[in-house]
Amino acid sequence: MIKIAPSILAADLLKIKQEVLSVVEAGADYLHIDIMDGHYVSNITFGSNIVKSIRPITNITLDVHLMISPVKQYVESFVKAGANIVSFHPEADSSPEKIIEEIKSLGCKCGIAVHPKIEIKDIEKYISLVDLIIVMTVVPGLGGQNFMENQLTKISTLNELRAKEGLEFEIEIDGGINYKTSKLCVDKGADVLVAGSYIYNSPESDYKKLINSLR
Ligand code: DX5
Ligand code: ZN
Repeated sequence: MIKIAPSILAADLLKIKQEVLSVVEAGADYLHIDIMDGHYVSNITFGSNIVKSIRPITNITLDVHLMISPVKQYVESFVKAGANIVSFHPEADSSPEKIIEEIKSLGCKCGIAVHPKIEIKDIEKYISLVDLIIVMTVVPGLGGQNFMENQLTKISTLNELRAKEGLEFEIEIDGGINYKTSKLCVDKGADVLVAGSYIYNSPESDYKKLINSLR
C-alpha cells in the first residue's frame, strides 16, 4: 500500500502536538519534517529541536527533509534528535557520499532529494547507497505550490533503474500532492507521497478521509 507522509510545514504550530497525533491516528505512515535554512532555499523553518520535541510523543517514522547548505555539520544533530530517515540535496554539499555514509553509520536511513532542475543521471551514482529518493514536484522552499507534471518521468526512470539494478530504495514524491496528482505519481511507481497543504489546510477536517483519498 502506498505510504502517506503528512508534512508539518502546513500544520498549525500552536497545536503541533495535536496536529502530529491526529495524522498518526488517521493512519499516516511517515511524518515529513521540512528543514529550511534561508540559504539553500529562501525560507527558514525549524532546526533539530522540532525533531527532539516530537520524538517522545509518537513512534511514527520521522522523515526529515533537509533543504540546507552545507549539510554535513548538521546531520548528527538530526539523527540524535530522533530522525528515522534523513534526506538531503546532494548538490548542497561537497561530499555527498561521505554524508550518506555518516547518516547510515549513525544507524539512520538516508535519502537524497532531487530538485526539479537536477536530472536523474546526475544523482545515479548515489542510488545504490540510499534507502529513499525524494522526487521534488515543486521548487523546494514553500508549501502550497502547484504540482510540476514535467517531473513525472523521473519517477518512471527511477522505478526502471530500481528494477534493473535490483535495488530497494523507496520513491517519495514531494510537492503539490492532492487527490488528483497522487494518482499520477502512483501510476508511475511512487511508494510514498508527502502532503502538506492538502492535509493540513483543507476545509475537510477529517484527516483519515484526506489520507485515504490519496491512497
Ligand atoms: C517544499 C517541501 C514540501 C512541502 C510540501 O519545499 O519540501 O515538503 O511541505 O507542501 P505541499 O504538499 O503543500 O506542496
Ligand atoms: Zn519536503
